[in-house]
Amino acid sequence: MFKWLSKYFASPSELYKAGILGMNSRNFKFIAKYNKRRRYPLVDDKVQTKALAQKFGITTPRLIGTIEYQHEVAHFQEMVKDWKSFVIKPAHGSGGKGVLVISSHNDEHYFTPSGRMLAYKDIYQHLSNTLSGLYSLGGQYDTAVLEEMVNFSHIFDEYSYQGIPDVRLIIYRGYPVMAMTRLATAASGGRANLHQGAVGVGLDIKTGKTLKAVMRNMPITHHPDTHADLSKIEVPFWKEHLIIGAKAYEMTRLGYLGADIVLDADKGPMMLELNARPGLAVQIANGIGLRKVLKRVDKYFPKRLSPEERVDFLLNYDGK
Ligand SMILES: Nc1ncnc2c1ncn2[C@@H]1O[C@H](COP(=O)(O)OP(=O)(O)O)[C@@H](O)[C@H]1O
Ligand SMILES: [Mg+2]
Repeated sequence: MFKWLSKYFASPSELYKAGILGMNSRNFKFIAKYNKRRRYPLVDDKVQTKALAQKFGITTPRLIGTIEYQHEVAHFQEMVKDWKSFVIKPAHGSGGKGVLVISSHNDEHYFTPSGRMLAYKDIYQHLSNTLSGLYSLGGQYDTAVLEEMVNFSHIFDEYSYQGIPDVRLIIYRGYPVMAMTRLATAASGGRANLHQGAVGVGLDIKTGKTLKAVMRNMPITHHPDTHADLSKIEVPFWKEHLIIGAKAYEMTRLGYLGADIVLDADKGPMMLELNARPGLAVQIANGIGLRKVLKRVDKYFPKRLSPEERVDFLLNYDGK
């Protein structure tokens, strides 16, 4: 189970001492205890998450439309004709699978951020595959979501290769507790997902500044494609990121969750998606174990505060 950690830590007991949260603890002590199963559909379905976020005053990329049935696939050209750029993703996808980012198009051709040219029939095929569940959890029939492409803030241009980076926050009982930014690489094809080969940069939860960086669970200092120094990152609008993350708790009532946030050049930080079973690699990117951090919240962080109050509490917290 700890294969991905074994490069750094010699034994399970050392892992335990380092406060690393393992898969079993995450699943049973935290996910099973704090996440009610009936609330999962709220976050497992990206269309529902978007609608819910709107209710809570959280910005998300605008929905262009959804495609549910094969006979609707041919309508996609009509749907996107007034949108310069757009993204297709499965409503029940995860790990970046099936996410297709189109940064420009004309009647015949569609271009990805890396300059790959796709034809009408390629998009048609991608949508058709999406509906058949090729990219989805459990492989069941799915809905294709078409949304606007985030107009990513140029502040990160040198840090991300042909794709937008995101910030992953781990939210525990309404408190953001751990953060990383994930940077697209040539290997990850414009998506900021670690399993696709993106870089993970652990961020200090109070400041949004770099702690350390990893790629495929190995420590690195510079971006593999842009060669930017990863130790210098400081995410702007950090407090706004934290507030969006904290609000995800009121939105879902899930006690343990991951929130993906992106920084739009015009609209500021927006919520991309939520995850009820966030991965544990964030610990590697931070060089900090989650177990201690979660215990600290249980012990010292007040319950029943508003999202803004929780973020203020966190920012002013200087206990151990
Ligand atoms: N609207 C968008 N605009 C630009 N890039 C996007 C957009 N949606 C997703 N992406 C890219 O694809 C990645 C995966 O998308 P996400 O919605 O988080 O789905 P998944 O559940 O597969 O992780 C994001 O981290 C981001 O890099
Ligand atoms: Mg994601």
